[in-house]
Amino acid sequence: MKRIGVLTSGGDAPGMNAAVRAAVRTAIYKEVEIYGINRGYEGMIEGDLRQLKKSDVANIIHRGGTILRTARSEEFRTKEGRERAYKVLQEHGIEGLVVIGGNGSYTGAMHLSMEHGIKVVGIPGTIDNDIYGTDYSIGFDTAINTAVEAVDKIRDTADSHSRIFVIEVMGRHSGYIALHTGIGSGASGIFLPEKVNSINSFIQDLRKSSRRNKLFNLVIVAEGNENGGAHEIAEELKKDKAIDVRTAVIGHLQRGGSPSAMDRVLASQLAYHAVLGLLEGKNNVATGQIDKEIVFTPIKDSISLKKAPDESMIKMAEILAL
Ligand code: F6P
Repeated sequence: MKRIGVLTSGGDAPGMNAAVRAAVRTAIYKEVEIYGINRGYEGMIEGDLRQLKKSDVANIIHRGGTILRTARSEEFRTKEGRERAYKVLQEHGIEGLVVIGGNGSYTGAMHLSMEHGIKVVGIPGTIDNDIYGTDYSIGFDTAINTAVEAVDKIRDTADSHSRIFVIEVMGRHSGYIALHTGIGSGASGIFLPEKVNSINSFIQDLRKSSRRNKLFNLVIVAEGNENGGAHEIAEELKKDKAIDVRTAVIGHLQRGGSPSAMDRVLASQLAYHAVLGLLEGKNNVATGQIDKEIVFTPIKDSISLKKAPDESMIKMAEILAL
């Protein structure tokens, strides 16, 4: 391979820039040209790309977001859209792609590779940590640290006023952020998309804990929980007149900011191995780290196999909660 491309797609995640930097520097070290494709597949379709040199990725390892910017492309979901994108890659002599993103980005990469023979290697980049084939995805560590820091601030008010705070974190389909934020902030209740909680039994638990003089409570809810978000759960809790509830939605605060050291290192390792793998002929696989080892998982498995929080972690969180 003489020339490859790199793109970030789907929701941005802290550490994506560290991954872009590592991909560019590894490719150049291997004497391969590398093009940065802007705005994910949207930019690929529109021919929005440029060659990247080592200096283009200097001073970005600490920056959140993605210098390549990102998008969720509807057109790329169609065969015609992918045909247009392929033509752009052909015109620029791009033979392989490094795709940094989540499940949607992987699906697009797989279709492009199967339909047009472009070689692709994925890198898991999403704060949700819901990608099969890696213990952690890029951005997750930063996101939970941001969320725990926010909850610590809310804790001061909860404690001072003896209140319950229901705090909503991201994760439409995945409870990793909620579970880890909940455990890390000593929450009394954690509501995940993967599990249906009974609000009534939670209220019973709160009554029990108030009898042992627990004066304030923090409840973490993932946005995709079946009982609803923070506001819906707070409304339910308010039916008990003795409960003084407030809500907070952390929202996109969790997706921004300077990546943690863990995310920078993970991103660098995964992107380094992704480029080496691509140049060695690997195709339709995604890099990941399992038990501290770098692994490659077929993209079709990463997409189709579900990764959900460990039942034993959920059980532990329940035991430690109240
Ligand atoms: O996939 C990352 C994520 O932040 C999810 O946790 C969240 O549900 C979704 O993206 C929000 O997406 P958007 O920023 O496009 O509204």
